[in-house]
Amino acid sequence: MTGILYGVGVGPGDPDLLTISAIRCIELSSVIAYPCLEGTPSFARSIVSDYIKESQEEIAIAIPMLQEPEPAQQAYDRAAQTLLERLQKGKNVAVLCEGDPFFYGSFQYLFFRLAKQCPIKVVPGVSSLMSCSASLSRPLSARNDVLSILPAPLPDADLKACLQVADTAAIIKIGRHFSRIRELLGIMNLKQESYYIERSTLPNEKIQVLDNVNPEEVPYFSMILVQRRGKI
Ligand SMILES: C[S@@+](CC[C@H](N)C(=O)[O-])C[C@H]1O[C@@H](n2cnc3c(N)ncnc32)[C@H](O)[C@@H]1O
Repeated sequence: MTGILYGVGVGPGDPDLLTISAIRCIELSSVIAYPCLEGTPSFARSIVSDYIKESQEEIAIAIPMLQEPEPAQQAYDRAAQTLLERLQKGKNVAVLCEGDPFFYGSFQYLFFRLAKQCPIKVVPGVSSLMSCSASLSRPLSARNDVLSILPAPLPDADLKACLQVADTAAIIKIGRHFSRIRELLGIMNLKQESYYIERSTLPNEKIQVLDNVNPEEVPYFSMILVQRRGKI
């Protein structure tokens, strides 16, 4: 019988935010897989390192850091094949995913490739959207508020159109786009309502107003929350 593929959300960084279900699925799997950018350790694995045993096979799925999408898609093709071989031997496979697997999570690339070939269970995780708002100690949304999630690589015109109608916006994947986004928020008079949160829930978490952020030091694991509403 084919094994089960678990897409395990491991939360934003603090292992205390792992769910009981995530830990159980890791324990039930003889193979633990995790995507990581080529040449860098896996952040998702570091979150659950206390729960991985030596007897479990680990598969690091190296994703090339390139602008064009094909090399990454080919890496997921190969990884899906590698995982399928284990699943067809009846082994359960846990794929670790930082935050929640279906909220911009890399697990989706494997999910779509394997959905028809094995049973899949997705374990939701605490997403960085929730943890950043908690780190900031500011509620995310209420009543009929419109909440937008905006990937920073989108063109300025798209970001502007969404920011104009959102009560709250989370701008994710900011990294090298930080200066451009800060400038746009300045033009739109939204800088006063915007906060930068880096590595939320980790010991080196940082929260700053935008003008204090050094764009050279903005890591991938950071977002900007724009909150027009101070009060309900
Ligand atoms: C590809 S998305 C993955 C989101 C993830 N699946 C989740 O549920 O949080 C990656 C983006 O999430 C945000 N992110 C993830 N973890 C974060 C953290 N600990 N602190 C701040 N932002 C984080 C960053 O904007 C990062 O560029």
